[in-house]
Amino acid sequence: MTHTLNLFDIEQNALQVLTSNAREYYLGGAADEITLRANICAFQHIFLRPRILADVAERSLQTSVLEQAWTMPIGIAPTAMQKLAHPEGEHATLKAAQNLGVPMICSTTATVAIEDLLQARKGANAWFQVYVYKDREVTRELVQRARDAGCRAIVLTADTPYLGKRERETRSGFHLPPTMELPNYRGLGTAAKNVRKSKETSGLAEHFAKNIDPALGWTDIEWLAAQTALPLVVKGVLRADDAILAWKHGAKGVIVSNHGGRQLDTAIPSIHALPAIAEAIGEVVDVMLDGGIRRGTDVLKALALGAKAVFLGRPVLYGLAWQGEQGVERVLAILREELDLAMALCGIKSVHEIHRDILSLPHQHWH
Ligand code: FNR
Ligand code: LAC
Repeated sequence: MTHTLNLFDIEQNALQVLTSNAREYYLGGAADEITLRANICAFQHIFLRPRILADVAERSLQTSVLEQAWTMPIGIAPTAMQKLAHPEGEHATLKAAQNLGVPMICSTTATVAIEDLLQARKGANAWFQVYVYKDREVTRELVQRARDAGCRAIVLTADTPYLGKRERETRSGFHLPPTMELPNYRGLGTAAKNVRKSKETSGLAEHFAKNIDPALGWTDIEWLAAQTALPLVVKGVLRADDAILAWKHGAKGVIVSNHGGRQLDTAIPSIHALPAIAEAIGEVVDVMLDGGIRRGTDVLKALALGAKAVFLGRPVLYGLAWQGEQGVERVLAILREELDLAMALCGIKSVHEIHRDILSLPHQHWH
């Protein structure tokens, strides 16, 4: 490609270099991929009502989330197995995040151990994402290791009692190549360490069915919050009543998310779920969002509907596949420039001035 101008160009570049095993895993969603597409389309149906002559010569993107300073309201969502994209894997992603002054949420299912990752990048803002395992000790130990390694928040992914029905993964026989490992599971007896090839389904689906506890409930959230002094964030919230429960059971933040359309197909696009959640708990808990963010205007729209910040999933993997650390930096830099320009063209000087009145919404009542 002669010009790499936006996140869609970077996706095209990445698709040229990814193995088919990684490609099908990264770009796929559940079932008919309706939610996967809708996440992106939903932003395209929201229009802006820009304000003119507002003196936008000076602008600021700085914000704070969970009392941490971020250079812009954009972070990196947890995505598994980043060495499938690039040999440096998670190391490259965290370097890019640190260079741009934003946090990275590290997946439990990473190809680099959390201790090694943070050892190499002292001072980086990393959050650690966990699932709750049938063997609670596994989760307790992971949380403790994340804290000892220097992580600044724990993110519980709550939308995955089972892995969604991912037909691409099954068709392509998704597996972790023999040269790679999932070292966060090192030393944890009962959790399956391998996501290797399986005959019936993808290796990952099998790993989840064996190890993740589908009986998880709200009291377990309280248990998890009590395991650490780090703030707990619940990821995968799509309803205001669940958001209130998350807050009541000790969450300091929620991420409005449908797992990038990879769990329940036809689940509501995350931007449609956001307003009711922000109205319900936005005053007491930091509300964040992921799913379908591809343009600076998408970030602006999410902030206007009550998000404090947004996270990027696939675009980061595509940047990583394309050019490693520099590719991820490019993704973040493009989005920063687009957000900055969108704010200027809307007559907005600071992310704290982004309000709902900047939007023209297609429906009066989203839930
Ligand atoms: C994910 N996601 C995810 N979420 C999580 O909590 N733990 C994980 O290990 C993963 N792994 C993962 C792998 C891949 C390949 C993808 C694409 C996604 C979900 C992720 O955090 C986020 O919710 C979505 O990716 C956001 O949507 P976009 O930005 O990809 O549209
Ligand atoms: C995924 C899991 C690992 O989305 O969260 O693939």
